[in-house]
Amino acid sequence: MSGLPRRLVLGIGGGIAAYKACELVRRLKERDVDVRVVMTAGAEHFLGAATLQALSGQPVRTSLWDASAEAAMSHIELARWADAILVAPASANVLARLAHGFADDLLTTLSLAASDRPLWLAPAMNRLMWAHPATQANVELLRARGAHVLGPASGEQACGEVGEGRMLEPEAIIAALSIFEAPQMLAGRRVLVSAGPTHEDLDPVRFLGNRSSGRMGFALAEAAAGMGAEVTLVAGPVALATPAGVDRIDVRSARQMHAAMLEHAPGMDVVIGAAAVADYRPEQRQTRKIKKQDDRFTVTLVRNPDILLDLAALSPRPYLAGFAAETEALEDNAQLKLQAKGLDLIAANLVGEGLGIETQDNAFSVFWRGGSTVLPRAPKTDLAVSLLRIVAGQLAAKGGRGT
Ligand code: CTP
Repeated sequence: MSGLPRRLVLGIGGGIAAYKACELVRRLKERDVDVRVVMTAGAEHFLGAATLQALSGQPVRTSLWDASAEAAMSHIELARWADAILVAPASANVLARLAHGFADDLLTTLSLAASDRPLWLAPAMNRLMWAHPATQANVELLRARGAHVLGPASGEQACGEVGEGRMLEPEAIIAALSIFEAPQMLAGRRVLVSAGPTHEDLDPVRFLGNRSSGRMGFALAEAAAGMGAEVTLVAGPVALATPAGVDRIDVRSARQMHAAMLEHAPGMDVVIGAAAVADYRPEQRQTRKIKKQDDRFTVTLVRNPDILLDLAALSPRPYLAGFAAETEALEDNAQLKLQAKGLDLIAANLVGEGLGIETQDNAFSVFWRGGSTVLPRAPKTDLAVSLLRIVAGQLAAKGGRGT
């Protein structure tokens, strides 16, 4: 089962990333998805309709007023026909027009008419255009209305700059789309996820933290909600937007995260510890700002509680999944943590420069009692779906809740 929508309208916005749409159509066709392409006027500057017509095997639509295409299927019929709409690339302009309900070309009109269908957006633009508060506000609005936003990824851009704004690669988009049919996989399940770093305060202005971005945990929460679960996300201090349909609880320190997780875990079917919890905290938090004095300054750290370990003691115990970020001996360390923390599954990855932490991509070796698999390098959104498919499969095999 591919999990992909059977009938997909692919909207192509203007931007250099439009060239990737050709590959996207080809790969969707390989997976037996029936694709109907709609191009904006901007997209036509970058791509020829004939290419997409040949790849999709269907007429390509460019205008609301295209007489021949209208005769084949009106925008209303096309909206009814589609199982889902994917816009890739979604330019800043397309995002703005979708956010504000414009209906001045075929793609925007169609998107309004298909508002009962899932909408997937793969933004692509210059990093400053992406970071602009106007674009971010538009994306937030679309997300809040239930649109699934895929990426963008970071890296070198066509304009020569480096930053966030690259469209996800076609395979990554397809992987994310594959939760389309997955809703049933976690329907009726309650899932609790922790995400991000924790900050351990030294005084009113300083803390000990780590470089966790929170992206993996947020991707898991988003994917779990997309797969039909009721999701609670306990987030450390990160600036990420709350995924649609997810209940979020913000915490700061490991002890606050511990308390929130233990409070919400009872009644959950699945608990996933994706947070990078600080193992130690300063023994004392000074109420006043620490002033510089001697050349040496010693801070005594004390152990924080282990959240997953304490969750494993619950009865009934939810299905427990954790992560192991290691710089060496990946499998040995992961197997040790699986046993020591009493987990059902552990996803292990190597961390270091450009790997695992602060990145969009990752790769995992996944271990459970009696089995393992490798999830090759992919965006965290894609890995989240793959991991949850494993979890859902194991839950179904186990039957029922808790142990
Ligand atoms: N974890 C936790 N509570 C802690 C520390 C970690 O629940 N106090 C969870 C993390 O959310 C993660 C898993 O345990 O799912 C492993 O985290 P990691 O930092 O790799 O392992 P540690 O147990 O901290 O072991 P070490 O730092 O010695 O490798």
